[in-house]
Amino acid sequence: MQVTARQGTLIKEKAEITVLGIFDAPQLETTAKEFDRALGGMISRLKKNGDFRPKLNNTFLLPTYGKLPAQRLLLVGLGKNDEFTLDGVRQVSGTAIKAAKRIGIKKVTCELPPTTLPAAEITQAMVEGAVLGHYGFNEYKHLQPEEVTEVTALDIVIKDKARLGGAKTGVKIGLSVTEAVSFTRDLVNMPGGQATPSMIASQARAMARRPNAMLRVKVLSGPAMKKLGMNGVLGVARGSCQPPAFIILEYGRKSPGKDTVVLVGKGVTFDSGGISIKPSHDMDKMKYDMAGAATVLGAVSALAALRPPNIHLVGLLPCVENMPGGRALKPGDILRCLGDKSVEVQNTDAEGRLILADALAYARRYRPAAILDLATLTGACVVALGHHAIGMMGNNRELFKRTEAAGEATHERVWQLPLWKEYGEAIKSDVADIKNIGNRTAGTITAAKFLEHFVEKTPWVHLDIAGVAWAEKNMPYTPKGASATGVRLLVELIMNWKRLPAAAKAKKGKK
Ligand code: BES
Ligand code: ZN
Ligand code: ZN
Repeated sequence: MQVTARQGTLIKEKAEITVLGIFDAPQLETTAKEFDRALGGMISRLKKNGDFRPKLNNTFLLPTYGKLPAQRLLLVGLGKNDEFTLDGVRQVSGTAIKAAKRIGIKKVTCELPPTTLPAAEITQAMVEGAVLGHYGFNEYKHLQPEEVTEVTALDIVIKDKARLGGAKTGVKIGLSVTEAVSFTRDLVNMPGGQATPSMIASQARAMARRPNAMLRVKVLSGPAMKKLGMNGVLGVARGSCQPPAFIILEYGRKSPGKDTVVLVGKGVTFDSGGISIKPSHDMDKMKYDMAGAATVLGAVSALAALRPPNIHLVGLLPCVENMPGGRALKPGDILRCLGDKSVEVQNTDAEGRLILADALAYARRYRPAAILDLATLTGACVVALGHHAIGMMGNNRELFKRTEAAGEATHERVWQLPLWKEYGEAIKSDVADIKNIGNRTAGTITAAKFLEHFVEKTPWVHLDIAGVAWAEKNMPYTPKGASATGVRLLVELIMNWKRLPAAAKAKKGKK
């Protein structure tokens, strides 16, 4: 979608369709008043007689029959003024674009909604809502002619010249972010037979080959992993004919003046459960078990485009398929993962933590200021938090605070669960250092306790995205299917990165 922000007056625009936001309030806002006057009081009447209720995401389409330069006017409800948030902006933007798409419109014209939020933030949110609302995954479907419509342009008209610079910044960031989110959604929506570990590795390599990519990519194959002792990844991969891939992405360079941040993403391209096989109902969904890896890949690509100056960023994507082949891991097997901990595999369906163990231990080699991992790790997280929150655990208050703030700003919200030492009891093994499942209780927490063994003291946040990575129904800017939740959060977090206090202190100590 081509998005432009330019100075102008909305009512004078010769548009295919003009979108006008209307608050649920007795008085119309300035622009709405201008349109109302030009239409002989029609908007006021529609509101008064209840034909158009300006609740958030309600719409009403009006032909203008020459009364305005625009051919059509789309009224979109903004809800109550004091309840309108940045996420409201994303939602109405998605709603408006979809309404336009449905009737085959190519170009949508609008202005910033009448709020006092900074222009850059509002504009970024508008772009996010529009592009992500418009998103569809139709690679495998024969569409009817009326289904192939596409809105190709969004024209944002800015009345106040002082807000134009901010709006342009918002467009730029919004486009980088939405390109990454769409990329991640595509990858997660693809069937496991297509999005294999090798295919994700080729996607990462292709990303690094783009002109001015600013991104370095290295892929470790099975033999290279064997040399290093990545027996978690190799163990899970043994049951499958698909070779594993350990993908390393790098943006920026290690330097004394910068924090190194490592992002880790679970990349199980299909989780059948292995020998501890899953029930067949809904097993098809387990193609989305690589959402963590796809999310990190998307976020790193957006960040490499946006180029934050003061960060050294590393992405680690352990990618495997979890299958019950003849050489598969068996319940009772013992592995020595990277990080020199022996692990008793009591359940081959708790495979995510085995591959993350290697990746987290590998992450420590960079001596990072922080590690963040994203994983569709536990069904228990879906039970605990449903589809509206990411489960957050970890060992560092400052990182929690930053992650929470990034979650609020992007509406990819996190909710913290405890990691008290008592929970660690459940993963003690009789025969190895730890085992890969706990008891029936607190499954999300015991999974994180397992991971904690491999990060040791590094500041770390674990995000369980099992409940949010797949949208069960259509929402204003997230259609049913892969949501790519976490991409925007990570971009927000890293773009606002300041040195972590602990890292700064360690540096002072050395001098
Ligand atoms: N990939 C699943 C977790 C999952 C479940 C993600 C549902 C998304 C939706 C993970 O590998 C898994 O199977 N976990 C087990 C762990 C158990 C065996 C301790 C689970 O949650 O049931
Ligand atoms: Zn599993
Ligand atoms: Zn899994």
